[in-house]
Parts: sequence; structure tokens; C-alpha cells
Amino acid sequence: MFLEDCKILENYQVGDNYYLMKIESKKAIQNSKAGQFFMLKVKNEIRVLRRPISLHFVDKDKNILEFYYEVKGGGTKEFSTLKAADVINIQGPLGNGFKTEISEKKCVVVGGGMGIAPTKLLIDNLKKNNEVIFIAGGRNSGALEILKNLNLEGVTTYITTDDGSVGEKGNVISVLSRVLKENKIDMVQTCGPHKMMEAVAKTSLEAGVFCEVSLEEKMACGVKACVGCSIKTLDGMKKVCHDGPVFDSKIIVDINPKENLGCSCN
Ligand SMILES: Cc1cc2nc3c(=O)[nH]c(=O)nc-3n(C[C@H](O)[C@H](O)[C@H](O)COP(=O)(O)OP(=O)(O)OC[C@H]3O[C@@H](n4cnc5c(N)ncnc54)[C@H](O)[C@@H]3O)c2cc1C
Ligand code: FES
Repeated sequence: MFLEDCKILENYQVGDNYYLMKIESKKAIQNSKAGQFFMLKVKNEIRVLRRPISLHFVDKDKNILEFYYEVKGGGTKEFSTLKAADVINIQGPLGNGFKTEISEKKCVVVGGGMGIAPTKLLIDNLKKNNEVIFIAGGRNSGALEILKNLNLEGVTTYITTDDGSVGEKGNVISVLSRVLKENKIDMVQTCGPHKMMEAVAKTSLEAGVFCEVSLEEKMACGVKACVGCSIKTLDGMKKVCHDGPVFDSKIIVDINPKENLGCSCN
């Protein structure tokens, strides 16, 4: 884990209230994994706490880290005003990350809304040695503009929107059910609104498929030093910043899968 002042290379709007920030990092690059996050420092002294943002992508050859974020309040609003050549202080990489060290598996990645953030690196890692199906959902086409920044070559991709402005009208769950019925899937990994991830987990476990969820909780320190991100789970209390943010979905969904899953991806 590093603390680093990084030069901003680009920071621009990608549809609606969403932004993509690319920064140059010398220290954090090599150890960063899909599903991990960074605590980004806000300069405004009223906001003393850093803001957790997932790693969107890492380009190890060019020393570039990418973050995809939505303006929610003052902290993310400040991030959106930063320009190329400005400096931002980052702390990370933090947390555990998704399972990616697997091969010859058939994997499904489900990203909903801001939950698409960690899927760029996740898909990039998985598709080197596995077959990947990606299901992306959002409120409308603006929430899915970011897909243009993902390299989805060779990835079977399904898109859904609530308003039908792009892709299928509806949500990711009906597509996931179909995909699970028509394919022999080894693993599902998901990030998005909590209710969506619960439904993804339930649908996957009922089909007998191992599933990972990336949980979100408000964070103060990001490094296990407070209780800011403690959550009650079916497996006891967990700190999202340290034990997660990626968890076996069985900690949020209480169902008996068809078969004993273990994880065929271990
Ligand atoms: C592990 C992790 C990874 C994340 N990755 C991303 C990402 O890649 N892109 C992105 O846009 N956002 C991400 N978030 C959420 C992001 O941290 C919050 O939206 C941000 O901290 C809000 O800060 P703010 O100062 O703009 O808003 P504030 O003024 O602090 O709050 C504005 C609104 O955002 C809500 N909020 C504040 N903190 C969080 C939080 N941690 N999680 C959810 N809602 C929050 C508040 O309840 C309030 O409604 C992530 C959160 C976690 C825990
Ligand atoms: S944010 Fe402080 S313990 Fe997780």
C-alpha cells in the first residue's frame, strides 16, 4: 500500500454525471489487482476523509491508473474539477480483489451502474485465459457510455437499460438467468447496487454456480483502523475495507445451493 502524489493525465465527463480520471502512478502500478480500490484525497479541508474509488484499469506498460466515478457530493464534485497536470494524492491499492488467477473457465461478469467501474480490469484479466460473458446494466444510455472505454473484443456482451434506450429493456437478472440456463458457467462475479448483487448471488447460487460480490460501505480510514465500514454478514462481522470489498456471495445470501460449490475456480 502506497501514498503517492500523482499527476492527472486526463479527467473528463463520460455521459450524465460520470467521469473518467487517468493518472500517472509510479509506485502503485505493479501490485494493483481488479476489485481493489484507492482512497483519493480531497483538498477541501472541510472534507478530511479520503474517498474510496475502485480501480477501473491499470496500464502497467504506461504507468497509468484509471478511475471511473460518479459525482455524488462535495468530494467527487471536487475530483470532477481537476484538470490535466493537477496533482491528486492516492492511497492504495487497498482490499482483496476478485479471483482472476484461473484458466480455461467460463466466467460471467455482471456490472450495474457505477458497479461497472471494476469490470474493465476484471474482464481484461479474465479473458486472457478464460471465456468471458459480460452483462452490463444501467438506468439509461448515459450510464453505459463508459462501455466505450472497455476492451470487449472476444467477450460476449449483453446490455440492459431500465428505459430501453440501449440494449434490452429490463435488468441484468433476466439475462443472467438465461445465460446460466444455456451455458455451463464456472463462476459469476458482480459489482453494483446491493439489491442487484443480492439477486445476482441468489440466481447464481440457485443454479449451483460460485459467485463473488464486491460490497460497498461508507469508509473513514480504508485501512482497518476504525469501524466505519463494519457490516453484519451471515458469516459474522466483516470490515469491507480489509476483509473485502470482494466476498463469497454466501455471506449475503442465505440459500442452499443445488450442489456443494466449493469453488471450481480455486
Ligand atoms: C470500496 C469502494 C469502492 C468504490 N468505488 C467507486 C467507484 O469506482 N466510483 C464511484 O463513483 N464511487 C465509488 N464508491 C463510492 C464513493 O466512494 C462515494 O460515492 C463517495 O465517497 C462519495 O463522496 P462525496 O464526497 O462525493 O459525497 P458525500 O458528500 O460524502 O456523500 C454524497 C452521497 O454519497 C453517499 N456515499 C458517501 N460515501 C459512500 C460510499 N462509500 N459508498 C456509497 N455511497 C456513499 C452518501 O450517503 C451521500 O448520499 C466506492 C465506495 C467503496 C466503499
Ligand atoms: S474504513 Fe476504517 S475499518 Fe474500514
